[in-house]
Amino acid sequence: MSSQIILPRIMQVGAQASLAVPDILDSMGCPRALIVTDNMMVKLGYVANITKVLDQKNTTVDVYFDVFSDTVPEPTVASIQAGVAMARAGKYDCIIALGGGSSIDSAKAIAILAKYGGEMKDYRFPRIVNEPGLPVIAIPTTAGTGSEATRVTIITDETNDEKMLCMGAGFMPVAALVDYTLTISVPARTTADTGIDALTHAIEAYVSKKANAYSDTQAIGAMKLIAPNLRKVYHNGEDQQAREHMMLGSTLGGVAFSNASVALVHGMSRPIGAFFHVPHGLSNAMLLPSVTEYSISAAPGRYADCARAMGIASVQDSNQQANEKLLTELKALNDELSVPTPAQFGIDKNKFFSVCQTMAEQALASGSPGNNPRVPSAEELVSLYQALWD
Ligand SMILES: [Fe+2]
Repeated sequence: MSSQIILPRIMQVGAQASLAVPDILDSMGCPRALIVTDNMMVKLGYVANITKVLDQKNTTVDVYFDVFSDTVPEPTVASIQAGVAMARAGKYDCIIALGGGSSIDSAKAIAILAKYGGEMKDYRFPRIVNEPGLPVIAIPTTAGTGSEATRVTIITDETNDEKMLCMGAGFMPVAALVDYTLTISVPARTTADTGIDALTHAIEAYVSKKANAYSDTQAIGAMKLIAPNLRKVYHNGEDQQAREHMMLGSTLGGVAFSNASVALVHGMSRPIGAFFHVPHGLSNAMLLPSVTEYSISAAPGRYADCARAMGIASVQDSNQQANEKLLTELKALNDELSVPTPAQFGIDKNKFFSVCQTMAEQALASGSPGNNPRVPSAEELVSLYQALWD
């Protein structure tokens, strides 16, 4: 049996990789670009850094660009409409997505809707969107969602608070400029949330039923880079080497899950995010210890490999010892990174319990729980949600 691996065509990795954007546009033959980003990227001067090199660099053709800077965290259908209208009106050759996962996810959706029209819900899973949209050049500024190297985008349908999972090669960026220097100024809270998201991608890709030999290498590589550096970047954002390892680990984690899928943590996390506006990485973090504990008996060897790759268990440890260490570490990590419980985050318990059934149904509909080594029933999902309050 073989596995189809889909990757960005170009990956530029390392310090100042983002400044290679004019060369990338040139090599792709795409001189007219729409930069899709958010207002924070404008304020921080990151957009100006990109537009400056676009203005200065001598490319074989004149580069023309505009900026759409109204993407929002956890993007909704409404939040991308103006971007779609702008992309449609402007006759652009490509989109430069600059920002965290939300900006990149917004850009991917805009790239498809601008070219093919329709509504976002037309493109949601289980439809597989393989047709290419406008080419996307992704420049991540967090480590991270890995969205620069995934065939996935998540857009919330605000009419029913559902995070729509949209998948297919059409959502894979053509180029990923992976520049860790853009993450140095990310605040500690976001660093922790996005870092746990990246770790979760790697673990879930590795234990996924759709894991394959290729995705395994990327997942293990990601865990080796992320696990020893996550606390470091949380406590000291200026640690260049730790930031570099986190950024690369995040991209590898994206490659891993894009080619193997995520599993139960992500399946359960999306509804929490949609209903209670919990940042994506944070809802993953709330779930990761208990969902791992629930799942471990179905793939003890795989989870033990994760513990060893993360450097918290040795080859001498039995699988059982390694798995105990993994659970201890995931809880300790949440404590050290000050991950709040749902109550501490400010979620109303009664409201949470009243939507557990709906969240369980949405989680199952996303398909992600089906990739988990242990596949829960709807009742078990409800219990897992409720157990977050124990
Ligand atoms: Fe994620």
